[in-house]
Amino acid sequence: MTSSHAHVSLLELQNASLTLGEGVARVDALIDVNLTVTSGELVAVTGRSGSGKSSLLNVAGGLTPLSSGTATVEGEPLAGLKARDLAARRRRSIGYVFQDLNLLPTLTAAENVAFPLELDGVKVAEARAAADVALTRLEIGDLAGRFPDEMSGGQRQRVAIARGVVGERRLLLADEPTGALDEVTAENVMKLIRSLCDDGAAALVVTHDPSLAAWADRVVRLRDGRIDSITEAST
Ligand SMILES: Nc1ncnc2c1ncn2[C@@H]1O[C@H](COP(=O)(O)OP(=O)(O)OP(=O)(O)O)[C@@H](O)[C@H]1O
Ligand SMILES: [Mg+2]
Repeated sequence: MTSSHAHVSLLELQNASLTLGEGVARVDALIDVNLTVTSGELVAVTGRSGSGKSSLLNVAGGLTPLSSGTATVEGEPLAGLKARDLAARRRRSIGYVFQDLNLLPTLTAAENVAFPLELDGVKVAEARAAADVALTRLEIGDLAGRFPDEMSGGQRQRVAIARGVVGERRLLLADEPTGALDEVTAENVMKLIRSLCDDGAAALVVTHDPSLAAWADRVVRLRDGRIDSITEAST
C-alpha cells in the first residue's frame, strides 16, 4: 500500500457463506469466506466462471444477504440494518460499477453521476458539484454535459466509475469494469482506481486479466466458492 492515510476497515467478511437456488439447483456460491479490506487497498478478485466472484461483490455490497456469517461495511454489520437503512448505506458508502455500466441514456454524464446522491436527498446543486468533482477526478470533467451515446466506450466507463465513487462513497465494487475496453483504456481505468485507493478509498475489482490484477495490493483467487489463495503484491 502506498497510502499515507490511516487505514480503517471498510469491508469485513467473516465466515461468509451463500447458498443460492433451490432443490437440485442449489449451489454453494460462497463457502466460509474470510476477507478484510482496509482503506487504501485495491483487491483484485479472480477465478473461473462460476467460482463466486459476482456473488462476493453482491454480498459485500449488501445486494444479497448471506446464508451464514457476517458482512460488515465501515464497522456496521449489514444484517442488522433495516431494508431502508441498508439501501441508504449502499448509496452513501458503496459504489458499484456493473459490467454493463447501467448508465441512464436520457441523463447527461453529470446527471448520471449526481443521480444516486439526489435519490439520497442531497440538494440538486450540491449533488451536481459532487458529480463535477468525481468527473474531473476521472479526467472527463469537460464531458459533463454529454449524453452516454455521445461518448466513447472508455469515456462511458469513466462516467460509471465516477458514479461509483461520487460523494462519500469509499468502497468501490467493480465487476469486470474493464471488460469492454481496449488494453490502453483498461490500464488507465485501473490506474484511476489505484489512485482513488491511494486517496483513501478501497476497491474490490473482478478481473480475468493478470496484467490488470498487477495493479492490486492483493489478488484473491476464488475456486468453487472458496478462497483458493490470496497473493500479496510484492512491493
Ligand atoms: N440466482 C442464482 N441462483 C442459483 N445459482 C446461482 C445464481 N446466481 C449464481 N448462481 C451460481 O452460483 C455460483 C457462483 O456464481 P457467480 O455469478 O458468483 O460466479 P462468477 O465467478 O461471477 O462467474 P462469471 O465469471 O461467469 O461471472 C455459480 O455456480 C452460479 O451458477
Ligand atoms: Mg460474475
